[in-house]
Amino acid sequence: MSTAFEHPTYNYKVVRQFSIMTVVWGIVGMALGVILAAQLVWPELNLGLPWTSFGRLRPLHTNAVIFAFGGSALFATSYYVVQRTCQVRLISDKLAAFTFWGYQAVILCAVATLPLGLTEVKEYAELEWPIDILLAVVWVSYAIVFLGTVKIRKTSHIYVANWFFAAFILTVAVLHIVNSAAIPVTATYSISLYSGAIDAMVQWWYGHNAVGFFLTAGFLGMMYYFVPKQAERPVYSYRLSIVHFWALIMVYMWAGPHHLHYTALPNWAQSLGMVMSIILLAPSWGGMINGMMTLSGAWHKLRTDPTLRFLVVALSFYGMSTFEGPMMAVKTVNALSHYTDWTIGHVHAGALGWVAMITIGSMYHLIPRLFGQSEMYSVKLVAVHFWLATIGTVLYIAAMWVNGILQGLMWRAINADGTLMYTFVETVEASGPGYIVRLIGGLFWVTGMLIMAVNVAMTVKGSAKSGAPLPQTA
Ligand code: HEM
Ligand code: HEM
Repeated sequence: MSTAFEHPTYNYKVVRQFSIMTVVWGIVGMALGVILAAQLVWPELNLGLPWTSFGRLRPLHTNAVIFAFGGSALFATSYYVVQRTCQVRLISDKLAAFTFWGYQAVILCAVATLPLGLTEVKEYAELEWPIDILLAVVWVSYAIVFLGTVKIRKTSHIYVANWFFAAFILTVAVLHIVNSAAIPVTATYSISLYSGAIDAMVQWWYGHNAVGFFLTAGFLGMMYYFVPKQAERPVYSYRLSIVHFWALIMVYMWAGPHHLHYTALPNWAQSLGMVMSIILLAPSWGGMINGMMTLSGAWHKLRTDPTLRFLVVALSFYGMSTFEGPMMAVKTVNALSHYTDWTIGHVHAGALGWVAMITIGSMYHLIPRLFGQSEMYSVKLVAVHFWLATIGTVLYIAAMWVNGILQGLMWRAINADGTLMYTFVETVEASGPGYIVRLIGGLFWVTGMLIMAVNVAMTVKGSAKSGAPLPQTA
């Protein structure tokens, strides 16, 4: 696609590749979520086959949405932002291309192995050791491309979004390498290097910081670039953004034990995790408020700009889920919420409301610019997508709150003689209506993503039709 007329300053090719894959994997991952939601309403949809069963498709869903969809979005935006804010081209086009193809290869390996039941059985770290090694190589290359580009920057200052991206990249490298340490037995089977309670603690140190750095810090990097850009306002308080950065990364590391309340983990470690989780509310809300206040004087733009709406509603859900999380980390609250759909609701308030909304807002800002267009093919369709996504998220999380509290209360209800008031099956039956509402919410989301795909395809087509060279092609 490259021509002699193109401006050689930045490498946008790799940004375009990752952006398109963000949309593709978003559809695949969310469609899998809808299948899972439907299986919980109609278990026959497991089809009686092992590879289409809930237990195998569930990790495929989480890997597809977090790592394929979220990961591709993080690669795309970090490569775009680092070049623009450091005013320099990526340090190596070849290594950047390797990260694209290598990362997509890891995803395809996940698609091939997870339905076959090949897994290390660690949540969000299921992939078997040969794929883990490939991922480690790709990730270290990513760190080299990103940090190398920061190093050769032409600006004296490193813009705060890059700090968040850098923390996300470095921390995920450490988390992945430490948590995946295992002794290979065969090419498709290995045994964790850790045992017992230590294995559990390492896993949730990884798991929680995957939330903190993959699903939060990286997307905050996106927030600090795309919210000011789309609102055409500077960040509300740059000083607050620095405090936000240091406070967030210092506190997140300690909060993992809240996933292991009432387990074999020593009690002091559980309490420490609880306290650190409560403290985490402060930096999280500091960042959320900083993002929101960036709109000071620009609130009227929300009336006409659905892209900005995506970005702002994402921040509201970020605020909501980081209020809910610390509350659920309190041991007495967790005694009710753990194992119930409340956790699933919390996850998707963060995942759909925050991660997916901020990603989609950023993509609607980015895609026209990457393809030399002034705006998306249809701004109306962006607005339709916005409403489908917002209503879909609300349906999903409201249904899970009701189900979660219902389940928690039914499980603990006892008769005067101390026997359980309800059987487990009765609690499953009572959850049925909530599962149907969640399924409808999921269908809203997938419909919105399909509309986005059409809109993106038409924008790309418009660019091809115009005959103009693509901007800044490698
Ligand atoms: C159409 C949208 C989506 C639907 C319908 C959906 C549906 C589901 C379902 C049914 C489950 C299994 C729940 C259970 O085991 O009871 C699940 C789990 C999960 N989903 Fe989604 N999902 C969607 C989008 C997303 C997105 C965009 C993300 C992340 C960015 C995400 C992250 C997760 C995670 C992390 C879990 C595991 C939660 C846990 O173990 O506590 N989902 N999803
Ligand atoms: C201040 C911030 C947050 C705190 C303190 C927090 C706390 C918690 C707590 C206590 C749980 C339940 C653990 C259990 O009972 O098993 C949980 C689960 C979870 N949270 Fe959060 N949360 C926060 C923000 C977020 C955000 C923003 C996201 C997503 C983008 C998120 C994603 C998840 C996921 C995926 C799980 C399920 C893990 C699993 O069991 O598989 N959290 N969180």
